[in-house]
Amino acid sequence: MMKLTKNEIEQFIDAIDSNSNYDFSEYSIKSFTRRLEKLTMDYNCSVDELVKKISANNKFLEEIVKSITVNTTEIFRDPEIWTTIKDDIISKYQFEDPINIWHAGSSTGQEVYTMLILLKQAGLFNNADVYGTDLNTDVLNVAESGKYKYREIDEYIQNFDDTFDDTANFKLTDYFEISRKRSLMKVKPLLLNKAIYQKHDLTSLQNPFGKKFHIIFCRNVLIYFNHELQNKIFEFFLDNMVKGGTLIIGKHEGILGEIGTKFEKYGTIYVKK
Ligand SMILES: C[S@@+](CC[C@H](N)C(=O)[O-])C[C@H]1O[C@@H](n2cnc3c(N)ncnc32)[C@H](O)[C@@H]1O
Repeated sequence: MMKLTKNEIEQFIDAIDSNSNYDFSEYSIKSFTRRLEKLTMDYNCSVDELVKKISANNKFLEEIVKSITVNTTEIFRDPEIWTTIKDDIISKYQFEDPINIWHAGSSTGQEVYTMLILLKQAGLFNNADVYGTDLNTDVLNVAESGKYKYREIDEYIQNFDDTFDDTANFKLTDYFEISRKRSLMKVKPLLLNKAIYQKHDLTSLQNPFGKKFHIIFCRNVLIYFNHELQNKIFEFFLDNMVKGGTLIIGKHEGILGEIGTKFEKYGTIYVKK
């Protein structure tokens, strides 16, 4: 694979910056470089050519931004976290009306629907307002359609079973239509109609809903940002959460430095002091 120079990477980020509202200047340089290298291969062109096209064609810029972001997600991803949310987190907010929940960087929405299932099972579905946001409108369109081509349905069913105990009197197919023949699953209307999606760029540090949140999910997003940007976003989340609100980040992410002292930490679950 072609190795890119620091100058080329900066040139690319500057071109996006001056032709749009996107700001990749504080993304983690390592993963960003890998994505850019892949782009030059996929489009079979140099960074210089990419930059020229980005500056001349806004549609192309949008396409490039979409291919830079990693959108992998799945329902009941990391089931042990969902068990903790089910057993220890949700009930803390049972008397709030509404319970405001935000999935920042929700990608195609599987995490949002997972949370809605937990709320339904806890009897708190009607009390909750659940929002999903992402930088990428294509993934939000998939989230709104609720139609997924899946690779591993048995793993999802296993993760679902691991989250709830064996005595549960409901199953995954209560919430999804599953066609094994076509490897397709479709979110049923009850969940689909409840989720609210909106385009939002976390680097803007703007609250898109103007509400204080009880639970914020931001899993497997911050890993692509550098530490300074991560800390600005933690500070921003803190300002936009109620006292005692919960922030849930990814399995391989953490809060470092002074900002960490403003939360009680339970693994990757952080509660605002
Ligand atoms: C790997 S997915 C994580 C999906 C889900 N949270 C999960 O853990 O399963 C990361 C998502 O973050 C989004 N993203 C990246 N940069 C962003 C930004 N600046 N603002 C909002 N979303 C962003 C990407 O478009 C992508 O859909």
